[in-house]
Amino acid sequence: MLLAFTDEGAGPAVVLLHGFPLDRTMWAEQVPALVPEHRVVVPDLRGHGESPAPDSVYAMEQMAEDVVELLDGLALTEPVVFAGLSMGGYVALALAAHHPERVRALILADTRAANDAPEAAANREVNARSVLAAGHPKALVESMIPKLFAPSSLRDRPELVARLRGAMEATSAAGVAGALRGMAMRPDRRPELGSIAAPTLVVVGEHDAVSPPDEARAIAEALPNGRLVTIPGAGHLSPCENPGAFNAAALDFLRGLD
Ligand code: MLT
Repeated sequence: MLLAFTDEGAGPAVVLLHGFPLDRTMWAEQVPALVPEHRVVVPDLRGHGESPAPDSVYAMEQMAEDVVELLDGLALTEPVVFAGLSMGGYVALALAAHHPERVRALILADTRAANDAPEAAANREVNARSVLAAGHPKALVESMIPKLFAPSSLRDRPELVARLRGAMEATSAAGVAGALRGMAMRPDRRPELGSIAAPTLVVVGEHDAVSPPDEARAIAEALPNGRLVTIPGAGHLSPCENPGAFNAAALDFLRGLD
């Protein structure tokens, strides 16, 4: 599948993989921070943003294959850094499992290595059906907002919340359902963490209620080459809620790779 994307800058490549049900605009504060030293490629994953949204189940492995196809099309075949937030982190872990030769390093932000518990997977199916029946994801997005942001972001950052809400509400029903069903069937990656050789920065918002700091710490500890950074004052959307701290941690990690 041909994904919509941006490609800016020159130097070692970093590929930014957005969360659900967002799009590449969630990285608005990261691209200008990274571009002076890196080539920054930012796709819309299938079903999101300006990329096609087929009526199907979007396995995380399929999303990973889309990204590999994009990079092949750009002749970016050397190993690159993949930075994924939440669902983007699931895709980054699928890339590490299936295409380790393409992975220079990983940034796993506010994500999980564990698969869904059965009730969580069943709940995703309920949500997929109601979004498809409504024809839009507005009710689902409304129910997600309080869990995505730290309380202080909800109180003090109305423009940020409105911008990201707009991106999420613009995602098609087919895209939302495909991603929900794909996330519900994703494998448990915890047993594989010990064999990820790539240097990995694990980032988590201090107040992340979706993929909590304890899980991030467990991921970092299970990785042979993992480092954990906690982003103060942020919830699940740490790159958006505290871009200064997120970018500083990312740049420090990226500079250490050379
Ligand atoms: C995300 O931010 O991508 C989602 O919270 C991931 C999920 O629903 O597991």
